[in-house]
Amino acid sequence: MSKVMIVGASGQLGHELQRLLNEQNIAFDALTEKELDITDLDAVKAKVTELQPAVLYDCAPYTAVDKAEDEGKTLNWLVNVDGTKNLAQVAAEQGVKLVYVSTDYIFDGTNKGGSVKNLV
Ligand SMILES: NC(=O)c1ccc[n+]([C@@H]2O[C@H](COP(=O)([O-])OP(=O)(O)OC[C@H]3O[C@@H](n4cnc5c(N)ncnc54)[C@H](OP(=O)(O)O)[C@@H]3O)[C@@H](O)[C@H]2O)c1
Repeated sequence: MSKVMIVGASGQLGHELQRLLNEQNIAFDALTEKELDITDLDAVKAKVTELQPAVLYDCAPYTAVDKAEDEGKTLNWLVNVDGTKNLAQVAAEQGVKLVYVSTDYIFDGTNKGGSVKNLV
């Protein structure tokens, strides 16, 4: 059983995270959207219950920022609000640490506190 679970594993962040975990010989379960859709609360509950991770990395956002306030608004809300809420709820219920990576659209990178050394 691995301690780390990744959702949205086929995206850019998901790929990079898997590379870092492999570099550090840390076992993980990486799930693509086909394997776990974070907007499906029952599926999220079932998968977290099955895998029992210590840490859950959310790499599964809606990222089409240019469409997020018009034609993509409904999907944006479904994935980024409801999907993230599903992960937060299940993580809280099951005592799992949830990691959500933000963006320089919000934070400009001047915070020196971050580190990619402690992944678990
Ligand atoms: N990439 C960067 O340079 C960068 C920089 C700073 C911050 N970030 C942050 O990192 C996060 C990830 O960004 P990214 O660049 O990795 O995005 P990305 O390449 O667009 O990957 C997003 C992933 O989420 C998956 N996904 C979408 N809806 C899903 C759902 N309902 N259930 C499960 N998976 C779903 C996508 O799967 P499909 O492709 O199958 O739809 C895709 O694999 C974002 O919050 C972003 O703001 C990224």
